[in-house]
Amino acid sequence: MSNTIVEVKNASKTYLSGDTTVVALQPTTVTFNKGELTLIMGPSGSGKTTLLSLVGCIIYPTEGNVFLNETNVTQLSEKELANIRLNTVGFVFQHFNLLEPLTALENVMQPMLLQKVPISKAKDRALKALEKVNLLDRKNNLPKKLSGGQKQRVAIARALVTSPDIILCDEPTASLDAKSGAVIMEELKELSRQDKAVIIVTHDLRLRKFADRVIYVEEGNVSNEISNEEDYK
Ligand SMILES: Nc1ncnc2c1ncn2[C@@H]1O[C@H](COP(=O)(O)OP(=O)(O)O)[C@@H](O)[C@H]1O
Ligand SMILES: [Mg+2]
Repeated sequence: MSNTIVEVKNASKTYLSGDTTVVALQPTTVTFNKGELTLIMGPSGSGKTTLLSLVGCIIYPTEGNVFLNETNVTQLSEKELANIRLNTVGFVFQHFNLLEPLTALENVMQPMLLQKVPISKAKDRALKALEKVNLLDRKNNLPKKLSGGQKQRVAIARALVTSPDIILCDEPTASLDAKSGAVIMEELKELSRQDKAVIIVTHDLRLRKFADRVIYVEEGNVSNEISNEEDYK
């Protein structure tokens, strides 16, 4: 059985702003696999978030195709896309995106409530996810009572609670000190070992040691920089 989960095939993205067009991503072909932690690196404005958004079904490509579990995403409606996101993709962002009036536990329950999972079941699963990221003792805390690293771990628990095949992270360690960043990376690495595709956009060269693979983006061009971490430790 193939481990491939996402195939980006000759997909490009062009944005129109006023009467200028910005080519955010040149035609790109790249495959992502389950069980793999991939880093996407490159300068600011190079197209990293655009690539991540294509993989996460947040945007359609301007040209080319994106296949998720062999389904051609380009042929799906916005509503079908939203469903795919909810069931197949977990997101972790730089600024955590937690809902401030909700406790850690309630934040983690959110995606399951959207999926109409019964509340008691959602609660059980959320508690298990918080346990996985070692935050059970903080379940009743509001985000403002948590440190940056703890908030990011709540965000990870929320991303994995629906058991998505793909976890997408945009600068997940950028707001964190080195030690909390390393904890987050260990947790993401562990998820990739559980047969998920973990894809992380970062500027941080130190994260390379966690990666199975590094992809480099420059001026909208994607290249496979290295496939073996050994040379870069
Ligand atoms: N919604 C948008 N509208 C117009 N231009 C955009 C939009 N999103 C991104 N861009 C442009 O596309 C290019 C790539 O952006 P992005 O993928 O966010 O880069 P990165 O994540 O590497 O910083 C940049 O020039 C950016 O200004
Ligand atoms: Mg970005």
